[in-house]
Amino acid sequence: MDTYTPETLQALVDDQPEEFRVSTAAYRGKEIFEEEMDRIFHKTWIFLCHESEIAKPGDFKSTQLGSRPVIVSRARDGKIHALLNVCTHRGATLCREEHGNTRAFVCPYHGWSFRPSGELIGIPDEDRYHACFNKADKNLKAVPRVASYGGLVFGSFNPDVEPLEDFLGGAKQHIDIWLKRTAGGTYRVSTAHKYGYDGNWKFQAENVCDGYHPGFVHRSAFNTVSKFSGSFENRALDVAVRQQGYTRGYPEGHGTLEAGAPLESGGIDPDVRQAYNDQLTALYGEEGAAEVLTNRQFLIFPNLTIFDFNIRVIQPISHDRTEVYSYPLMIEGAHDQINSNRMLDAQTRVGTAGILSADDIDVFAGGQNALKAEGFDWITLSRGLGKEEIKPDGERVGVYSDEVPQRAFWRKWRSMMKSDS
Ligand code: FES
Ligand SMILES: [Fe+2]
Repeated sequence: MDTYTPETLQALVDDQPEEFRVSTAAYRGKEIFEEEMDRIFHKTWIFLCHESEIAKPGDFKSTQLGSRPVIVSRARDGKIHALLNVCTHRGATLCREEHGNTRAFVCPYHGWSFRPSGELIGIPDEDRYHACFNKADKNLKAVPRVASYGGLVFGSFNPDVEPLEDFLGGAKQHIDIWLKRTAGGTYRVSTAHKYGYDGNWKFQAENVCDGYHPGFVHRSAFNTVSKFSGSFENRALDVAVRQQGYTRGYPEGHGTLEAGAPLESGGIDPDVRQAYNDQLTALYGEEGAAEVLTNRQFLIFPNLTIFDFNIRVIQPISHDRTEVYSYPLMIEGAHDQINSNRMLDAQTRVGTAGILSADDIDVFAGGQNALKAEGFDWITLSRGLGKEEIKPDGERVGVYSDEVPQRAFWRKWRSMMKSDS
């Protein structure tokens, strides 16, 4: 199939009462990838950065919004801008640095310069231009909508996109709980771990809230931890399929995986741990503190994952290539042991060399290779279907190993892909 229509796109997700299937065509080929960029990544809110990455005036980060290169920067007045990373002279890539601080972006090609707000401020040998040459429309092209919630900065190419808080919907309450982990402080992201794999971006998006797979694909990692248990003091990781915990899915496409208990590893002096927990209790009460400490990870549709100690951004590159940026999250002002433990969790679990990421990436690349198989037309995401609790606002709740978040993702994917707007 070369060209898709709203009808054929909608037909890729088959949502029946007894079975939920996704066509393997949804992972294959450049056409579907381009439709995803147009209909999802260039239409809705996409995560750009954490505010701490561009804390000071002049700070910037270069990244991608969908398939388009952008710079996110903080201007002298403190305002955050998202700008196409394209020089308005002859279209060179303007900023080659991943992040930094600057008074002006100077194009490497002919030296035009722009403020972090995007304003064109310098043209070498400007007197060679006509007296009426219009400089005013040569500012960097701005991403029309930028907004942030809880320090998370999002941008959208769609000027008519819904308000950010409406887009976040059911995920907002989970962001609020995640923010409380700072015990009244703020988060600061560390330098990203990066990895790539030869597979579709949705494999990683589906995996993040998948409570079914850890006891299987990560078994050898867990066994290694058990074998050297003396060397991983208190670093508990579950080997078995979990009997407690929840999955949730929201109409906005977001989903969660909640362990139903704290999963944080050890390595912190008991009195340091106690002081942190006491601070949470003082701020939020016993129940509130317990809720904050309960392990959860969630996906903000389509490509942002938030863990208790980490932010992970899934960057689609093509239908069969994906890059992942994994940012450990430190708490500004927290005890060093709290932060070093958070860093250790981020590195050893979900970082590039983490014991969990390598297993998952191998499955994603294998999945992409398996798509070459002729005659394998549907995958099934039916676990827990018909057994989940459906709340009046559309939130669905299943047990830890249910495929509730994946179905929420695909329902939203389908509604955006079939949309003509
Ligand atoms: S392309 Fe940027 S200055 Fe010429
Ligand atoms: Fe995993």
